[in-house]
Amino acid sequence: MRNASKVAHFESQNRPTCSPSGPPCLYPIDFYAIPLRFSYAYRETIRFVMQCITMTTLEAGDTLDHYRLDAVVGHGGMSTLFRATDLRNGRQVALKVPHAEMEADPVLVERFEREQEIGQELDHPGIVKAYDGEERSRLYMVIEWVDGRLLRSILNEKRRLPIERAIAITLGICDALDYMHKRGVVHRDLKPENIMIGEGDSIKLIDFGIAMKEDARRLTFTEISPALGTPDYIAPEQVKGQRGDQRSDIYAVGAMLYEMLAGEPPFTGSNPLAVMNERLLNDPRPVRDLRPEVSPQLQEILYRALERDPRHRYATAAEMAWELEHQEQVGLQVGIEDGERRAGAALRGRLPSGRKMVLYASLALAPVLLFVLMLLLAKR
Ligand SMILES: Nc1ncnc2c1ncn2[C@@H]1O[C@H](COP(=O)(O)OP(=O)(O)O)[C@@H](O)[C@H]1O
Ligand SMILES: [Mg+2]
Repeated sequence: MRNASKVAHFESQNRPTCSPSGPPCLYPIDFYAIPLRFSYAYRETIRFVMQCITMTTLEAGDTLDHYRLDAVVGHGGMSTLFRATDLRNGRQVALKVPHAEMEADPVLVERFEREQEIGQELDHPGIVKAYDGEERSRLYMVIEWVDGRLLRSILNEKRRLPIERAIAITLGICDALDYMHKRGVVHRDLKPENIMIGEGDSIKLIDFGIAMKEDARRLTFTEISPALGTPDYIAPEQVKGQRGDQRSDIYAVGAMLYEMLAGEPPFTGSNPLAVMNERLLNDPRPVRDLRPEVSPQLQEILYRALERDPRHRYATAAEMAWELEHQEQVGLQVGIEDGERRAGAALRGRLPSGRKMVLYASLALAPVLLFVLMLLLAKR
């Protein structure tokens, strides 16, 4: 509740009534409200000071409302993530508590609220759930506890995954993405650090910190840029400062599948700027150069997901999943060597189909035929 409406609410709750069950009395000048406003301001100040004190000292073992903080599991630039226990029912949850300085920044608070809102709205086994709002003494998010490991830590340990496993994980990600994209939500920060892998390689997308909802007010790139970390999975259009859309998520999926197969991301460089530049100017190294047992069809799928121009990428995650599941039906550029296939793939989608080619050829031949016909007629 905004402060003004809080005051109004407080006043309406505390104002004396003319009769015990009647509406609040109306005064020409609301003298009664003056001390109330002071007491409200006083109470808010005390609450703010208390918040500042607790904000800096929250640690494992503390209690926050009816949650016991059991352990710190993540400490990011914006917030700390605790494993916690709900003391009312013993349920294990994750608590995302923003840093104190974040609470002073309205843009960041809005982002946090958006993350909460999106987490509450989406309901899919591949997407982490946020629980909604009982009265909380400060800003924090209560999230479903996910048992599992980050895809990042699996990749750090194994470097490359068996091809079938990489595909299965990617299909899980595509399924969750298709669900949320259909509801107008774009994640925009997909990377192995934000994907948890559970039992049986079930996946869970976490961290909707810079996610975007189609119908929500637009946050600009500059507003969200401090949160952008590794550039390895960011789509070229996001590098150029655009907000990105569902195809940017598909690019990130392509980059992660590439890494799961090749053991390194599609673009590498000595620093983040060099990596971003590479992605804008050059093509990724063919994955088959790094891992020859990857099929040409699977390589083709990667090229399509990693197209620089979003218009040439898969339009939906479901489309990409379909090709992953029906690789035998993925068309290849016949006769083109692996090294050249990239250019071919980049052109795909822009190349006319077979039927169109026949039409164009006959249109081009029409004047020649007409000319020959006229020549024959003239001879007679
Ligand atoms: N729901 C969860 N269950 C278990 N661990 C989680 C959960 N959400 C996040 N984590 C852990 O906390 C870390 C940070 O969480 P994340 O939401 O990605 O925040 P940040 O904005 O700091 O990146 C994750 O990398 C993961 O290890
Ligand atoms: Mg994260």
